[in-house]
Amino acid sequence: MASITIRNLDEATKQLLRERAAHNGRSMEEEVRHLLRDSTQAPASFPAEPAIATVSPEIFDPLELDGKRILLIITGGIAAYKCLDLIRRLRERGASVRPVMTEGARAFITPLVVGALANDKVFLELFSREDEQDVGHISLARECDLVLVAPATADFIAKMALGIANDLASTIVLASNRPLLVAPAMNPIMWAAAALQRNMQQLRADGVHVIGPMRGEMAESGEAGTGRMAEPLDIVAAVRGLLAEAPGTISGPLTGKRAIVTSGPTHEPIDPVRYIANRSSGKQGHAIAAALAALGAQVTLVSGPVTITDPPGVLTVHVETAREMLDAVEQLLPADIAVMVAAVADWRASGEAGEKIKKKPGEAPPPLQLTENPDILKTVGHHAKRPALVVGFAAETQNLIDNAKGKLQRKGADWIVANDVSPAKGVMGGDRNHVRIVSRSGVEDWPEMDKTSVAARLAEKIAERFETTEV
Ligand code: CTP
Repeated sequence: MASITIRNLDEATKQLLRERAAHNGRSMEEEVRHLLRDSTQAPASFPAEPAIATVSPEIFDPLELDGKRILLIITGGIAAYKCLDLIRRLRERGASVRPVMTEGARAFITPLVVGALANDKVFLELFSREDEQDVGHISLARECDLVLVAPATADFIAKMALGIANDLASTIVLASNRPLLVAPAMNPIMWAAAALQRNMQQLRADGVHVIGPMRGEMAESGEAGTGRMAEPLDIVAAVRGLLAEAPGTISGPLTGKRAIVTSGPTHEPIDPVRYIANRSSGKQGHAIAAALAALGAQVTLVSGPVTITDPPGVLTVHVETAREMLDAVEQLLPADIAVMVAAVADWRASGEAGEKIKKKPGEAPPPLQLTENPDILKTVGHHAKRPALVVGFAAETQNLIDNAKGKLQRKGADWIVANDVSPAKGVMGGDRNHVRIVSRSGVEDWPEMDKTSVAARLAEKIAERFETTEV
Protein backbone atom coordinates (compact mmCIF):
# COMPACT_ATOMS: atom_id res chain seq x y z
CA MET A 1 0.00 0.00 0.00
CA ALA A 2 1.60 3.25 -1.08
CA SER A 3 1.04 6.60 0.57
CA ILE A 4 1.56 10.16 -0.57
CA THR A 5 2.93 13.00 1.49
CA ILE A 6 2.02 16.32 -0.07
CA ARG A 7 5.02 18.10 1.44
CA ASN A 8 7.34 15.73 -0.42
CA LEU A 9 5.93 16.57 -3.85
CA ASP A 10 8.08 18.85 -5.97
CA GLU A 11 7.22 22.56 -5.93
CA ALA A 12 5.68 22.64 -9.42
CA THR A 13 3.34 19.72 -8.66
CA LYS A 14 2.44 21.24 -5.31
CA GLN A 15 1.59 24.54 -7.00
CA LEU A 16 -0.60 22.79 -9.57
CA LEU A 17 -2.34 20.90 -6.80
CA ARG A 18 -2.79 24.09 -4.78
CA GLU A 19 -4.38 25.86 -7.75
CA ARG A 20 -6.69 22.89 -8.54
CA ALA A 21 -7.70 22.63 -4.89
CA ALA A 22 -8.39 26.37 -4.70
CA HIS A 23 -10.39 26.21 -7.90
CA ASN A 24 -12.52 23.37 -6.58
CA GLY A 25 -12.82 24.82 -3.09
CA ARG A 26 -11.13 21.80 -1.49
CA SER A 27 -8.13 21.27 0.74
CA MET A 28 -5.04 19.89 -1.00
CA GLU A 29 -5.58 16.48 0.58
CA GLU A 30 -9.20 16.35 -0.53
CA GLU A 31 -8.08 17.27 -4.02
CA VAL A 32 -5.59 14.37 -4.11
CA ARG A 33 -8.31 12.03 -2.87
CA HIS A 34 -10.59 13.19 -5.70
CA LEU A 35 -7.82 12.82 -8.28
CA LEU A 36 -7.02 9.32 -7.12
CA ARG A 37 -10.66 8.34 -6.97
CA ASP A 38 -11.23 9.62 -10.50
CA SER A 39 -8.11 7.93 -11.86
CA THR A 40 -8.77 4.59 -10.19
CA GLN A 41 -12.42 4.38 -11.24
CA ALA A 42 -12.07 1.55 -13.71
CA PRO A 43 -14.00 1.63 -16.99
CA ALA A 44 -16.79 -0.97 -17.11
CA SER A 45 -14.84 -3.36 -19.38
CA PHE A 46 -11.93 -3.59 -16.92
CA PRO A 47 -11.99 -5.95 -13.99
CA ALA A 48 -12.07 -4.08 -10.72
CA GLU A 49 -8.53 -3.51 -9.47
CA PRO A 50 -7.68 -3.43 -5.83
CA ALA A 51 -6.80 0.11 -4.75
CA ILE A 52 -3.09 0.64 -5.27
CA ALA A 53 -2.67 3.94 -3.53
CA THR A 54 -4.28 5.73 -0.66
CA VAL A 55 -3.58 9.19 0.59
CA SER A 56 -2.48 9.05 4.13
CA PRO A 57 -2.87 12.18 6.13
CA GLU A 58 0.44 14.04 6.37
CA ILE A 59 3.09 11.92 8.07
CA PHE A 60 4.28 13.90 11.02
CA ASP A 61 5.78 13.55 14.43
CA PRO A 62 2.94 14.11 16.92
CA LEU A 63 5.48 15.55 19.34
CA GLU A 64 7.26 17.92 16.96
CA LEU A 65 5.66 20.97 18.61
CA ASP A 66 5.18 19.30 21.96
CA GLY A 67 4.40 21.80 24.68
CA LYS A 68 4.84 24.84 22.41
CA ARG A 69 2.35 27.59 23.09
CA ILE A 70 1.14 29.46 20.02
CA LEU A 71 -0.84 32.65 20.37
CA LEU A 72 -2.84 32.76 17.13
CA ILE A 73 -4.22 36.13 16.08
CA ILE A 74 -6.91 35.79 13.43
CA THR A 75 -7.73 38.97 11.53
CA GLY A 76 -10.59 39.65 9.16
CA GLY A 77 -10.00 38.12 5.77
CA ILE A 78 -11.65 35.34 3.81
CA ALA A 79 -8.57 33.18 4.50
CA ALA A 80 -9.68 33.10 8.15
CA TYR A 81 -11.47 29.85 7.34
CA LYS A 82 -8.06 28.23 6.70
CA CYS A 83 -7.19 28.93 10.33
CA LEU A 84 -9.51 26.19 11.41
CA ASP A 85 -7.30 23.69 9.62
CA LEU A 86 -4.19 25.49 10.89
CA ILE A 87 -5.35 25.14 14.50
CA ARG A 88 -5.95 21.44 13.97
CA ARG A 89 -2.50 20.98 12.36
CA LEU A 90 -0.73 22.78 15.19
CA ARG A 91 -2.59 20.89 17.89
CA GLU A 92 -2.10 17.45 16.35
CA ARG A 93 1.64 18.13 16.57
CA GLY A 94 1.47 18.79 20.28
CA ALA A 95 1.19 22.61 20.34
CA SER A 96 -1.42 24.46 22.33
CA VAL A 97 -3.21 27.24 20.48
CA ARG A 98 -4.66 30.25 22.26
CA PRO A 99 -6.81 32.20 19.80
CA VAL A 100 -7.37 35.93 19.63
CA MET A 101 -9.85 37.24 17.06
CA THR A 102 -10.30 40.76 15.76
CA GLU A 103 -13.75 42.13 15.13
CA GLY A 104 -13.17 41.64 11.39
CA ALA A 105 -12.30 37.96 11.85
CA ARG A 106 -15.66 37.42 13.50
CA ALA A 107 -17.35 38.44 10.25
CA PHE A 108 -15.82 35.34 8.62
CA ILE A 109 -15.71 32.63 11.30
CA THR A 110 -17.28 32.39 14.73
CA PRO A 111 -15.46 32.32 18.06
CA LEU A 112 -17.50 29.24 18.88
CA VAL A 113 -15.90 27.09 16.19
CA VAL A 114 -12.42 28.56 16.80
CA GLY A 115 -12.70 27.89 20.54
CA ALA A 116 -13.96 24.36 19.95
CA LEU A 117 -11.05 23.50 17.67
CA ALA A 118 -8.47 25.21 19.88
CA ASN A 119 -10.01 23.75 23.02
CA ASP A 120 -9.36 27.10 24.68
CA LYS A 121 -11.09 30.35 25.40
CA VAL A 122 -11.13 32.79 22.50
CA PHE A 123 -9.96 36.28 23.48
CA LEU A 124 -11.83 39.10 21.79
CA GLU A 125 -11.90 42.39 23.69
CA LEU A 126 -9.18 44.65 25.04
CA PHE A 127 -11.25 46.07 27.85
CA SER A 128 -13.10 42.93 28.89
CA ARG A 129 -13.22 42.87 32.67
CA GLU A 130 -13.54 39.14 32.76
CA ASP A 131 -10.62 38.48 30.37
CA GLU A 132 -8.35 41.00 32.06
CA GLN A 133 -8.98 39.28 35.38
CA ASP A 134 -8.35 35.89 33.77
CA VAL A 135 -5.05 36.60 32.04
CA GLY A 136 -4.72 40.23 30.96
CA HIS A 137 -3.42 41.38 27.62
CA ILE A 138 0.19 41.67 28.77
CA SER A 139 0.20 38.07 30.01
CA LEU A 140 -1.42 36.95 26.76
CA ALA A 141 1.40 38.63 24.87
CA ARG A 142 4.10 36.95 26.93
CA GLU A 143 2.72 33.57 27.97
CA CYS A 144 3.43 31.96 24.63
CA ASP A 145 6.44 30.81 22.62
CA LEU A 146 5.38 32.48 19.40
CA VAL A 147 2.79 34.96 18.19
CA LEU A 148 1.31 33.97 14.84
CA VAL A 149 -0.91 36.33 12.84
CA ALA A 150 -2.84 34.35 10.23
CA PRO A 151 -4.36 35.64 8.13
CA ALA A 152 -2.80 39.09 8.41
CA THR A 153 -4.88 41.65 6.55
CA ALA A 154 -3.48 44.81 4.93
CA ASP A 155 -5.12 46.81 7.71
CA PHE A 156 -3.54 44.77 10.49
CA ILE A 157 -0.12 44.90 8.78
CA ALA A 158 -0.43 48.70 8.60
CA LYS A 159 -1.22 48.83 12.32
CA MET A 160 1.76 46.63 13.11
CA ALA A 161 4.08 48.76 10.98
CA LEU A 162 2.95 51.92 12.79
CA GLY A 163 2.73 50.43 16.27
CA ILE A 164 -0.96 51.21 16.61
CA ALA A 165 -2.55 49.43 19.57
CA ASN A 166 -6.29 50.09 19.48
CA ASP A 167 -7.71 46.63 20.00
CA LEU A 168 -6.71 43.44 21.79
CA ALA A 169 -4.85 41.87 18.83
CA SER A 170 -2.74 44.93 17.96
CA THR A 171 -2.00 45.60 21.63
CA ILE A 172 -0.72 42.05 22.08
CA VAL A 173 1.57 42.39 19.07
CA LEU A 174 3.04 45.59 20.48
CA ALA A 175 3.38 44.20 24.01
CA SER A 176 4.95 40.89 22.99
CA ASN A 177 8.62 40.04 23.22
CA ARG A 178 8.17 36.69 21.51
CA PRO A 179 9.05 35.77 17.90
CA LEU A 180 6.35 37.06 15.60
CA LEU A 181 5.27 35.25 12.44
CA VAL A 182 2.87 36.85 10.00
CA ALA A 183 0.98 35.15 7.15
CA PRO A 184 -0.43 37.92 4.93
CA ALA A 185 -3.51 37.27 2.81
CA MET A 186 -5.24 39.77 0.60
CA ASN A 187 -6.23 40.69 -2.92
CA PRO A 188 -3.17 40.76 -5.27
CA ILE A 189 -3.65 44.43 -6.10
CA MET A 190 -3.65 45.32 -2.42
CA TRP A 191 -0.54 43.17 -1.91
CA ALA A 192 1.27 45.00 -4.72
CA ALA A 193 0.24 48.47 -3.47
CA ALA A 194 3.17 50.73 -2.62
CA ALA A 195 1.79 51.55 0.83
CA LEU A 196 1.40 47.88 1.74
CA GLN A 197 4.88 47.04 0.47
CA ARG A 198 6.30 49.93 2.51
CA ASN A 199 4.63 48.48 5.59
CA MET A 200 5.97 45.00 4.86
CA GLN A 201 9.46 46.44 4.55
CA GLN A 202 9.01 48.02 7.97
CA LEU A 203 7.85 44.73 9.50
CA ARG A 204 10.84 42.90 8.07
CA ALA A 205 13.20 45.60 9.33
CA ASP A 206 11.58 45.20 12.75
CA GLY A 207 12.51 41.49 12.74
CA VAL A 208 9.03 40.15 12.04
CA HIS A 209 9.07 36.79 10.22
CA VAL A 210 6.85 36.55 7.17
CA ILE A 211 5.46 33.54 5.31
CA GLY A 212 3.75 33.97 1.97
CA PRO A 213 1.54 35.16 0.44
CA MET A 214 1.46 32.66 -2.40
CA ARG A 215 0.40 32.90 -6.01
CA GLY A 216 -2.92 31.37 -6.94
CA GLU A 217 -6.58 31.98 -7.43
CA MET A 218 -8.41 34.37 -5.15
CA ALA A 219 -11.75 33.97 -3.46
CA GLU A 220 -13.04 36.71 -5.77
CA SER A 221 -14.03 34.87 -8.92
CA GLY A 222 -11.74 35.34 -11.88
CA GLU A 223 -8.93 36.97 -9.86
CA ALA A 224 -5.53 35.38 -9.56
CA GLY A 225 -2.10 36.57 -8.46
CA THR A 226 0.02 36.82 -5.34
CA GLY A 227 -2.10 37.21 -2.23
CA ARG A 228 -3.27 33.77 -1.06
CA MET A 229 -2.40 32.92 2.50
CA ALA A 230 0.33 30.27 2.78
CA GLU A 231 -1.03 26.75 3.21
CA PRO A 232 -1.55 25.66 6.84
CA LEU A 233 1.15 22.98 6.59
CA ASP A 234 3.68 25.50 5.28
CA ILE A 235 2.81 27.78 8.18
CA VAL A 236 3.31 24.86 10.56
CA ALA A 237 6.76 24.23 9.00
CA ALA A 238 7.69 27.89 9.52
CA VAL A 239 6.51 27.73 13.15
CA ARG A 240 8.62 24.62 13.66
CA GLY A 241 11.64 26.33 12.10
CA LEU A 242 11.30 29.39 14.29
CA LEU A 243 10.85 27.39 17.46
CA ALA A 244 13.58 24.84 16.70
CA GLU A 245 16.37 26.84 18.29
CA ALA A 246 16.60 30.45 19.24
CA PRO A 247 19.21 32.05 16.92
CA GLY A 248 22.80 31.63 18.14
CA THR A 249 21.99 29.28 21.04
CA ILE A 250 23.62 26.12 19.64
CA SER A 251 27.10 25.47 20.86
CA GLY A 252 29.71 24.33 18.32
CA PRO A 253 33.02 25.23 16.66
CA LEU A 254 31.57 28.50 15.34
CA THR A 255 30.07 29.66 18.65
CA GLY A 256 30.74 33.35 19.10
CA LYS A 257 31.19 33.98 15.34
CA ARG A 258 28.79 36.24 13.49
CA ALA A 259 27.92 35.26 9.94
CA ILE A 260 26.01 37.00 7.16
CA VAL A 261 24.59 34.91 4.32
CA THR A 262 22.78 36.23 1.25
CA SER A 263 20.42 33.96 -0.66
CA GLY A 264 17.79 33.81 -3.39
CA PRO A 265 17.27 36.11 -6.34
CA THR A 266 16.58 39.82 -6.26
CA HIS A 267 13.55 41.37 -7.94
CA GLU A 268 14.17 44.62 -9.77
CA PRO A 269 10.93 46.49 -10.52
CA ILE A 270 10.17 47.78 -14.00
CA ASP A 271 6.73 49.13 -13.08
CA PRO A 272 4.29 48.30 -10.26
CA VAL A 273 3.51 44.87 -11.71
CA ARG A 274 6.61 43.76 -13.60
CA TYR A 275 10.13 43.00 -12.47
CA ILE A 276 13.45 41.53 -13.60
CA ALA A 277 14.35 38.31 -11.78
CA ASN A 278 16.22 35.03 -12.18
CA ARG A 279 15.65 31.35 -11.43
CA SER A 280 17.42 31.16 -8.07
CA SER A 281 15.34 29.23 -5.48
CA GLY A 282 17.42 30.17 -2.43
CA LYS A 283 17.86 26.49 -1.52
CA GLN A 284 21.67 26.58 -1.44
CA GLY A 285 21.97 29.86 0.47
CA HIS A 286 19.29 28.93 3.01
CA ALA A 287 20.97 25.54 3.56
CA ILE A 288 24.32 27.26 4.18
CA ALA A 289 22.74 29.64 6.71
CA ALA A 290 21.22 26.66 8.56
CA ALA A 291 24.49 24.69 8.42
CA LEU A 292 26.51 27.59 9.90
CA ALA A 293 23.90 28.01 12.66
CA ALA A 294 24.09 24.27 13.37
CA LEU A 295 27.81 24.75 14.10
CA GLY A 296 27.05 27.51 16.58
CA ALA A 297 27.44 30.67 14.46
CA GLN A 298 25.04 33.55 15.00
CA VAL A 299 23.69 33.81 11.49
CA THR A 300 21.69 36.51 9.78
CA LEU A 301 20.31 35.50 6.41
CA VAL A 302 19.48 38.27 3.97
CA SER A 303 17.07 36.67 1.56
CA GLY A 304 15.61 37.88 -1.71
CA PRO A 305 12.05 36.80 -2.62
CA VAL A 306 11.83 33.00 -2.34
CA THR A 307 9.02 30.55 -1.72
CA ILE A 308 10.92 28.35 0.73
CA THR A 309 10.59 28.95 4.47
CA ASP A 310 13.12 30.69 6.69
CA PRO A 311 15.73 28.23 7.96
CA PRO A 312 15.70 27.19 11.61
CA GLY A 313 17.93 28.89 14.15
CA VAL A 314 18.67 31.81 11.85
CA LEU A 315 17.49 35.40 11.84
CA THR A 316 16.13 36.08 8.37
CA VAL A 317 15.84 39.55 6.87
CA HIS A 318 13.70 39.67 3.72
CA VAL A 319 14.50 42.08 0.91
CA GLU A 320 13.41 42.53 -2.69
CA THR A 321 16.06 44.45 -4.62
CA ALA A 322 19.86 44.44 -4.87
CA ARG A 323 20.03 47.86 -3.26
CA GLU A 324 17.93 46.70 -0.30
CA MET A 325 20.14 43.61 0.01
CA LEU A 326 23.28 45.76 0.07
CA ASP A 327 21.77 48.08 2.70
CA ALA A 328 20.81 45.12 4.90
CA VAL A 329 24.26 43.52 4.57
CA GLU A 330 26.13 46.76 5.33
CA GLN A 331 23.98 47.30 8.43
CA LEU A 332 25.05 43.85 9.65
CA LEU A 333 28.80 44.63 9.52
CA PRO A 334 31.06 43.99 11.35
CA ALA A 335 30.83 40.22 11.13
CA ASP A 336 33.34 37.35 11.07
CA ILE A 337 32.01 35.47 8.07
CA ALA A 338 30.20 36.56 4.90
CA VAL A 339 28.88 33.98 2.45
CA MET A 340 27.30 35.68 -0.53
CA VAL A 341 25.16 33.10 -2.29
CA ALA A 342 22.41 35.33 -3.68
CA ALA A 343 21.92 35.49 -7.43
CA VAL A 344 21.82 39.27 -7.39
CA ALA A 345 20.39 40.83 -10.54
CA ASP A 346 23.28 42.57 -12.29
CA TRP A 347 21.02 45.27 -13.68
CA ARG A 348 17.86 47.12 -12.76
CA ALA A 349 15.50 49.23 -14.84
CA SER A 350 16.87 52.77 -15.08
CA GLY A 351 13.73 54.44 -13.82
CA GLU A 352 10.90 52.45 -12.28
CA ALA A 353 7.62 53.55 -13.88
CA GLY A 354 5.12 54.77 -11.30
CA GLU A 355 2.20 53.33 -13.26
CA LYS A 356 1.81 50.12 -15.20
CA ILE A 357 3.36 50.57 -18.65
CA LYS A 358 0.51 50.18 -21.19
CA LYS A 359 0.64 48.78 -24.71
CA LYS A 360 -0.09 51.44 -27.29
CA PRO A 361 -1.69 50.08 -30.47
CA GLY A 362 0.59 50.54 -33.46
CA GLU A 363 3.59 51.65 -31.38
CA ALA A 364 6.86 49.75 -30.94
CA PRO A 365 7.48 48.10 -27.53
CA PRO A 366 8.99 50.56 -25.05
CA PRO A 367 12.79 50.31 -24.72
CA LEU A 368 14.07 48.91 -21.42
CA GLN A 369 17.00 50.98 -20.17
CA LEU A 370 19.19 49.24 -17.61
CA THR A 371 21.50 50.51 -14.88
CA GLU A 372 24.13 48.39 -13.15
CA ASN A 373 23.32 47.26 -9.62
CA PRO A 374 25.82 47.53 -6.77
CA ASP A 375 28.01 44.44 -6.37
CA ILE A 376 27.39 43.28 -2.81
CA LEU A 377 30.21 40.73 -2.66
CA LYS A 378 32.70 43.24 -4.07
CA THR A 379 31.57 45.92 -1.61
CA VAL A 380 31.95 43.52 1.34
CA GLY A 381 35.28 42.15 0.02
CA HIS A 382 36.77 45.66 0.00
CA HIS A 383 34.91 47.08 3.00
CA ALA A 384 36.60 48.88 5.89
CA LYS A 385 34.74 46.41 8.12
CA ARG A 386 35.57 43.40 5.92
CA PRO A 387 34.75 40.09 7.61
CA ALA A 388 37.75 37.82 8.25
CA LEU A 389 36.39 35.29 5.78
CA VAL A 390 34.54 36.34 2.64
CA VAL A 391 33.08 33.60 0.44
CA GLY A 392 31.41 34.22 -2.90
CA PHE A 393 29.71 32.00 -5.43
CA ALA A 394 30.25 31.94 -9.18
CA ALA A 395 27.36 30.86 -11.32
CA GLU A 396 28.84 30.08 -14.72
CA THR A 397 27.80 28.40 -17.91
CA GLN A 398 31.33 28.32 -19.41
CA ASN A 399 35.04 28.65 -18.40
CA LEU A 400 34.06 27.82 -14.82
CA ILE A 401 37.46 27.91 -13.12
CA ASP A 402 38.94 30.87 -15.03
CA ASN A 403 35.84 32.96 -14.43
CA ALA A 404 35.81 31.96 -10.74
CA LYS A 405 39.49 32.97 -10.36
CA GLY A 406 38.70 36.32 -11.96
CA LYS A 407 35.83 36.89 -9.48
CA LEU A 408 38.03 35.88 -6.53
CA GLN A 409 40.48 38.59 -7.50
CA ARG A 410 38.06 41.30 -8.59
CA LYS A 411 35.65 40.96 -5.69
CA GLY A 412 38.21 40.57 -2.91
CA ALA A 413 36.88 37.15 -1.80
CA ASP A 414 38.87 34.45 0.02
CA TRP A 415 37.04 31.57 -1.63
CA ILE A 416 34.74 31.28 -4.57
CA VAL A 417 32.34 28.36 -4.70
CA ALA A 418 32.04 27.79 -8.44
CA ASN A 419 29.10 25.96 -9.95
CA ASP A 420 28.03 25.22 -13.48
CA VAL A 421 24.51 26.57 -13.93
CA SER A 422 24.02 25.44 -17.54
CA PRO A 423 20.34 24.43 -17.87
CA ALA A 424 21.35 20.78 -18.49
CA LYS A 425 22.91 20.60 -15.00
CA GLY A 426 19.63 21.60 -13.32
CA VAL A 427 21.41 23.45 -10.49
CA MET A 428 19.18 26.54 -10.54
CA GLY A 429 16.06 25.56 -8.59
CA GLY A 430 17.23 21.91 -8.30
CA ASP A 431 18.27 20.00 -5.19
CA ARG A 432 21.79 18.94 -6.15
CA ASN A 433 25.00 20.78 -6.80
CA HIS A 434 28.52 20.03 -8.05
CA VAL A 435 30.90 22.70 -6.81
CA ARG A 436 34.58 23.57 -6.94
CA ILE A 437 36.13 25.65 -4.19
CA VAL A 438 38.52 28.13 -5.77
CA SER A 439 40.99 29.91 -3.49
CA ARG A 440 44.43 31.46 -3.90
CA SER A 441 45.93 28.12 -2.91
CA GLY A 442 44.18 26.04 -5.58
CA VAL A 443 40.94 24.36 -6.64
CA GLU A 444 39.07 21.65 -4.71
CA ASP A 445 36.63 19.62 -6.79
CA TRP A 446 33.81 18.26 -4.61
CA PRO A 447 31.66 15.37 -5.83
CA GLU A 448 28.08 16.10 -6.82
CA MET A 449 25.81 15.99 -3.76
CA ASP A 450 22.58 17.47 -2.53
CA LYS A 451 22.58 21.13 -1.57
CA THR A 452 22.22 20.37 2.14
CA SER A 453 25.41 18.26 2.03
CA VAL A 454 27.28 21.00 0.13
CA ALA A 455 26.15 23.41 2.85
CA ALA A 456 27.25 21.12 5.70
CA ARG A 457 30.66 20.52 4.12
CA LEU A 458 31.19 24.22 3.44
CA ALA A 459 30.24 25.10 7.04
CA GLU A 460 32.76 22.52 8.29
CA LYS A 461 35.45 23.94 6.02
CA ILE A 462 34.71 27.40 7.40
CA ALA A 463 34.92 26.08 10.99
CA GLU A 464 38.28 24.39 10.21
CA ARG A 465 39.59 27.62 8.77
CA PHE A 466 38.76 29.42 12.04
CA GLU A 467 40.31 26.62 14.08
CA THR A 468 43.58 26.58 12.16
CA THR A 469 44.02 30.27 11.39
CA GLU A 470 44.05 33.16 13.80
CA VAL A 471 41.57 35.24 11.89
N1 CTP B 1 27.15 39.23 -6.44
C1 CTP B 1 26.83 40.27 -5.62
N2 CTP B 1 26.27 41.40 -6.14
C2 CTP B 1 26.04 41.50 -7.47
C3 CTP B 1 26.37 40.44 -8.32
C4 CTP B 1 26.93 39.30 -7.78
O1 CTP B 1 27.03 40.16 -4.40
N3 CTP B 1 25.49 42.61 -7.94
C5 CTP B 1 27.82 38.07 -5.86
C6 CTP B 1 27.01 36.80 -5.86
O2 CTP B 1 26.27 36.66 -4.66
C7 CTP B 1 28.10 35.74 -5.96
C8 CTP B 1 29.18 36.42 -6.77
O3 CTP B 1 28.95 37.82 -6.63
O4 CTP B 1 28.65 35.45 -4.70
C9 CTP B 1 29.25 36.07 -8.23
O5 CTP B 1 27.97 36.18 -8.81
P1 CTP B 1 27.77 35.85 -10.35
O6 CTP B 1 26.35 36.09 -10.70
O7 CTP B 1 28.38 34.52 -10.67
O8 CTP B 1 28.74 36.89 -11.01
P2 CTP B 1 28.53 38.35 -11.52
O9 CTP B 1 29.35 39.26 -10.72
O10 CTP B 1 27.10 38.67 -11.61
O11 CTP B 1 29.22 38.26 -12.94
P3 CTP B 1 28.68 37.64 -14.30
O12 CTP B 1 27.16 37.70 -14.21
O13 CTP B 1 29.26 38.50 -15.31
O14 CTP B 1 29.19 36.24 -14.35
